[in-house]
Amino acid sequence: MKATAIAPSNIALVKYWGRRNNELVLPFNTNLSMTFDKMYTTTTIEFSDAHERDVVIINGKEVDGDKFARSSKHIDLIRKMAGIETRMKMVSTNNFPTRAGFASSASGGAAEAMAAAAAAGLKLNDRELSILARRSGSGSAARSIHGGFVIWHRGERDDGNDSYAEQFVDENYWKEFRVLATVLDEREKKVTSAEGMEDTVKTCPYYPTWVETAKKDVETIRKAILDRDFKAVGETAEHNCLKMHALMLTTRPSLIYWGPETIEIMKAVQAWRSEGVHAYFTIDAGPNVKVLCLKDNQEDVAARLRALPIVKNVIETQPGPGARLVDEHLF
Ligand code: DP6
Repeated sequence: MKATAIAPSNIALVKYWGRRNNELVLPFNTNLSMTFDKMYTTTTIEFSDAHERDVVIINGKEVDGDKFARSSKHIDLIRKMAGIETRMKMVSTNNFPTRAGFASSASGGAAEAMAAAAAAGLKLNDRELSILARRSGSGSAARSIHGGFVIWHRGERDDGNDSYAEQFVDENYWKEFRVLATVLDEREKKVTSAEGMEDTVKTCPYYPTWVETAKKDVETIRKAILDRDFKAVGETAEHNCLKMHALMLTTRPSLIYWGPETIEIMKAVQAWRSEGVHAYFTIDAGPNVKVLCLKDNQEDVAARLRALPIVKNVIETQPGPGARLVDEHLF
């Protein structure tokens, strides 16, 4: 059977950093994100005896090595759940440039889970799909199943069955919210999130404080989103991002994901704020910066970012819908 899913990428406002179980991808801290309206992955998966071996094609190229291993391990899990052993072909494309400095693993993992589950004949609800997307290897994929604003619960159980993401307001609740994704550096990062967070958990002396304070950050931002209180969301998201980077900096060996241009944008955003521009930043495990603002000042903030010579591109996004199955297949 063949199925195709479209899944969006997302940006964490309270970050996920650190796993209490590597194999099951269980986070130490509950985290919170916004799903993008732009930037998504489309994936078609077919299980068929016509395929003699598993084949994974991403953006027109057959992949092997780590990328292939990650997908085929995820698909093995789905085959086991469905009680099948049939080989599969997977074709996947991103609608955003792969080298634009954005992780496509959240959208890729969610699209892979949804398409493979449907192609294998599994009938899963959103919670089960989120758990399955989490197991893609990129934990943030668990959040991409849902649209709008989403919380991924860390859960307490050892088997991970209570560690799933769920929507708390949909994409229409706060339509004016904007995330301007700036492209600064298009190189792939040297240390993946999975490797980096493992080192942090083992060696960073501040890690317990992170886990403890992230709880409060989730509560503060959740409430601020419900109240549409932009200042509270921005302040808390920026602070939470800096706390995560403080962990990274104090990991051994240290993880400095920023480049000089990252710091330039951080300082520019803070300087604009002191001029009365309501904008905040957040940064993942890489050099690119996402700037939070509202529709009212979107044009102004985007123009300020584009005027900086270090900025290669600005992608303007707002809350969007979650992953869904579609009828049009890629092959
Ligand atoms: C810093 O393992 O979910 O983006 O980096 O895409 O492999 P990839 O994803 P994942 O780690 C995400 C870490 C983070 C914070 C976040 O998105 O919560």
